[in-house]
Amino acid sequence: MRAQAAEVCRYPIADSRALLTALAEKEGVPRDQILIGAGSGEVLEAYGAYLGGEGGDVVTAWPSYRQLTGAMERRGSSVIEVPLNDRLELDLDAMSAAITATTKCVYVCNPNNPTGTIVDPEKLREFAIEVSKQVPVFIDEAYLECADDFVANTMVGLVAEGHNLTVSRTFSKIYAMAGQRIGYAVVPADLVAPVRSFITGGTSMLAMVGAQASLADLGYVESMRRKLKAGRDGLIAVLDELGCRYVEPQGNFVFFQSSVSIADFRPAMQAAGVKVGRAFPPYDDWCRISIGTPDEMTVAQTALREVLAKFV
Ligand SMILES: Cc1ncc(COP(=O)(O)O)c(C=O)c1O
Repeated sequence: MRAQAAEVCRYPIADSRALLTALAEKEGVPRDQILIGAGSGEVLEAYGAYLGGEGGDVVTAWPSYRQLTGAMERRGSSVIEVPLNDRLELDLDAMSAAITATTKCVYVCNPNNPTGTIVDPEKLREFAIEVSKQVPVFIDEAYLECADDFVANTMVGLVAEGHNLTVSRTFSKIYAMAGQRIGYAVVPADLVAPVRSFITGGTSMLAMVGAQASLADLGYVESMRRKLKAGRDGLIAVLDELGCRYVEPQGNFVFFQSSVSIADFRPAMQAAGVKVGRAFPPYDDWCRISIGTPDEMTVAQTALREVLAKFV
């Protein structure tokens, strides 16, 4: 990225071609089935904008990530939110049962944000194949590279097989390039042009150069995955010690039950130097905490012990 900085006076046409080629190779689809955006969020927005007009509904879990479903809602679709099961995992059977005659899309976030849980891959595969015969399925894999087993859990192969399924990824999470704004989706061939027409800005030259360099650095993802897991494991050890319930985390955050209202817990943690996630009703005494650097995690662990001690 530093080497390319002197070139930012030019439009990044060659860089986007090179990145598309690298992504197509990684994902096993033709280049023209990849949509790159300024963060995967831009692609989620574009997909939602395309599908959202003229009413209808979108099925999602709750709580889950709202960007695609929110974009549809702003354009007049309603959002059908299906509660998580009692293990705080996506309830795929209930989501499938929630589909109506006017459903335009089913959105699956896996691992789910804010819970960090992952669904059984065989069950998800079956769900994706069956549901995508009725309506387009969108699987947001923003955090999947953080999970213990990416290969067994990614559904991107189903896009290549021709199912009506889109899979999105980002360079913001495991690749640590959130500030550069770059992500992409692997999209069924017939959806590429209509969804692309809603992409307004697109990403930048340096983001694309950085993304390409990251893809080529094969050891990096594995080493980040190990570091993230160490961060999650350290946090879980403290939660075990403090007797807090949590759900199996597979993203770059942990969702746990502090048993203190998040309205009180959040400012107390902030006073101790740690910004935690907002409220995710109905889990009002749960908290999402992201994994940071080892030093930051030490601060977070100390803060957790101190803050929870105050609320006993
Ligand atoms: C599940 C999920 N998908 C997509 C995004 C969008 O991220 P970005 O636009 O940085 O790729 C986020 C951001 O937090 C997210 O949590």
